[in-house]
Amino acid sequence: MFHGVRVPFFDLKNQNLKIKSEAIEKFSEIFDSAAFILGEEVIIFEKNMAEYLGTKYAIGISSGTDAILVALMALDIRGSDEVICPSFTFFATASTVVRLGGIPVFVDVDLADFNISWEKIREKISTKTKAILVAHLFGQMASMDEIIKIGREFNIPVIEDCAQSFGAKRHERQSGTFGKVGCFSFFPTKNLGGFGDSGLVCTDDDDIAEKIKILRVHGMKPRYFHRYVGGNFRIDEVQAGLLNVKFSHVEAYIANRRKNAAIYLEALNGLKSIVLPKEIEGNFHTWNQFTIRVLEEKRDEVCQALQASDIGYNIYYPLPLDAQESLKPFVDPRSLTSNAMLASKEVLSLPIYPELTSDQILHVITTLKQILH
Ligand SMILES: Cc1ncc(COP(=O)(O)O)c(C=O)c1O
Repeated sequence: MFHGVRVPFFDLKNQNLKIKSEAIEKFSEIFDSAAFILGEEVIIFEKNMAEYLGTKYAIGISSGTDAILVALMALDIRGSDEVICPSFTFFATASTVVRLGGIPVFVDVDLADFNISWEKIREKISTKTKAILVAHLFGQMASMDEIIKIGREFNIPVIEDCAQSFGAKRHERQSGTFGKVGCFSFFPTKNLGGFGDSGLVCTDDDDIAEKIKILRVHGMKPRYFHRYVGGNFRIDEVQAGLLNVKFSHVEAYIANRRKNAAIYLEALNGLKSIVLPKEIEGNFHTWNQFTIRVLEEKRDEVCQALQASDIGYNIYYPLPLDAQESLKPFVDPRSLTSNAMLASKEVLSLPIYPELTSDQILHVITTLKQILH
């Protein structure tokens, strides 16, 4: 049945329209300054981020992937070093380890929040383990209290992949501030989304911050004297400037996402064959994704109904990392990450972006109720 309401999975146009004049003014300032590399806007952005997150250092980076890569480089991860990673996350969480010659050691996830199962980390730690890399998936933090304890027990640093968790908190403390280094992405679909690629690392550690700043510019200090083999990991001045504009609105974006999630949670409660996501006690969920589980192999049917009703959806992620072709050589054959495999068959993310109208949300709810009553 055609309702005349279209619900794209994600739509940035409205969000951007509301800040168009501010953004264009900022772009015009940067254009006139002709200072495009590590200029004033980057300094302001880094100050904004350090204040918001509550860390001593925040360092703008070229992307979320590069933020993880440079964090691992700063911790000296290299050939045959093992890094504990969740098996259900975006590829970059583990590919960065492999790019440095390291070995990702996959740990299964909990179906309650799709984050790494902290109880299963200990059994994967060996003498070669050099870091625990945790991803906070879909806008909700993993069990950091327990994971930090494990890190301390074995004297292994914890790195947080906060690409999806900007603004998420556990007991009022920001994601990215629990481990040694927090790594953020400002890919346009994130809660704080830029106008292209960009990222950030945050840390309280003086030495790591200094090393990351040097690695960001080809390991160079002083100029043309290369202490490390780094890379060009600089955040772009234009991105930093436009992110400064967007940053002043991010709390409102997050509040709207939370409001949309609350509507879904109430309206979809009790529907057959699905499991709704939940905010774990003590967590502040920022709903970068609203991801339900569709049971009994009904996901295709639900997807078809959404499609027929002009509703966008996405499947994050259709294949766990330990089953990815390129990562198979690194997978311990004894390690079965069965929840991750089940999740990949059941997950379905619904539109949750801040500018969804009540008509659009209602259309999603009505469509799901029609098929899952
Ligand atoms: C969990 C996770 N890690 C890492 C990344 C990589 O970030 P970026 O796309 O900015 O390189 C993403 C985003 O796409 C992500 O969702």
